[in-house]
Amino acid sequence: MLNSFWNWFVIIISVASILACWWLLHWTKGVSDRSGDEAGSTGHVWDDNITELNTPLPRWWLHLFNITIVFALVYLAIFPGLGNFGGFLGWTQVGQYEEEVARATTAQEAIFSRFRDMDAAALMADQEARATGGRLFGNNCAMCHGSDGRGAKSFPNLADNDWQWGGSFEQILSTLEYGRQAAMPPLAAVLGEQGVPEVVAYVQQLSGQKADAEMAAAGQARFQMVCMACHGMDGKGNQALGAPNLTDDIWLYSSAPSDIEYGIRNGRNGKMPAFGNTLSEDHRRLLAAYVMGLSN
Ligand code: HEC
Ligand code: HEC
Repeated sequence: MLNSFWNWFVIIISVASILACWWLLHWTKGVSDRSGDEAGSTGHVWDDNITELNTPLPRWWLHLFNITIVFALVYLAIFPGLGNFGGFLGWTQVGQYEEEVARATTAQEAIFSRFRDMDAAALMADQEARATGGRLFGNNCAMCHGSDGRGAKSFPNLADNDWQWGGSFEQILSTLEYGRQAAMPPLAAVLGEQGVPEVVAYVQQLSGQKADAEMAAAGQARFQMVCMACHGMDGKGNQALGAPNLTDDIWLYSSAPSDIEYGIRNGRNGKMPAFGNTLSEDHRRLLAAYVMGLSN
């Protein structure tokens, strides 16, 4: 809402300029009548013999101007435009927006109500549910996980059967609603300069890569002290903490020893954003079923 000064400022300037246009139009229309001589010249002469005629605007042109003036007045009467005056139609931006949202909600309700009683297996089997889930995935997830869900370095592959945070319907729903924040601490100081390469060798060995046996054995002892709490005694990980299984040769970052070492030295804090506020439960259920379907 404008305060009363700006309210009247806008109203007076708008109305006055429309009236001024109208006056200018009709004043200039009469100018030719006021010219001095018979031929209708303005009296301006150049190079001795070039005179300027005073020809009125063509009628149709004049009427176009009149129409724009009438249009402006009618528009300002029915739509908001004159200060705080809302117009006789009562139209508002917010009102139009809410009407459109209500229409979209009704349309979506018709689609989604059918899916509400279906469990994960039924959703995965339903072609329409899959297609809708796929579109939601393309709009909300593909920029990180790839359009085929196969991920990239630091973005997990959702199309395999390896789950950092769990692959059940409930676990995936929880991942979507609240997001996930991985917290692997930096461990360079704990392990020491000697310890880091030993543990790297053990992690390589765990996943079936070639590694120096002596180094790996020393690394194993350290692993059991420093890493076991999260990655488990046997290195198979812990979904409650999002600690990945290190024995399966499936990597969130990469299998390169330099990448393994980097993570151990500096920690890793992968973050899956929460969608609880931006996607409805209806949407999240279809997405979770779609994600499960990628690996089945
Ligand atoms: C901004 C990038 C980003 C977007 C967008 C995103 N994700 Fe993620 N997502 C991640 C990252 C990073 C992780 C891994 C987090 C970690 O390191 O633990 C992850 C993890 C996951 C996981 C857990 C995987 C596992 O192995 O347990 C699932 C499931 C998942 N995302 C599904 C989705 C879905 C479905 C969407 C779309 C609604 C989505 N993500 C959108 C970045 C993203
Ligand atoms: C406090 C729990 C915790 C401890 C302790 C911990 N980690 Fe981790 N680790 C994690 C989490 C969580 C992730 C996943 C990081 C992410 O998603 O960004 C991870 C990721 C990794 C990765 C990357 C795996 C991949 O797929 O790319 C490696 C390798 C690793 N940890 C090795 C170790 C080693 C070796 C130790 C001990 C020296 C250790 N971690 C100690 C929680 C832990």
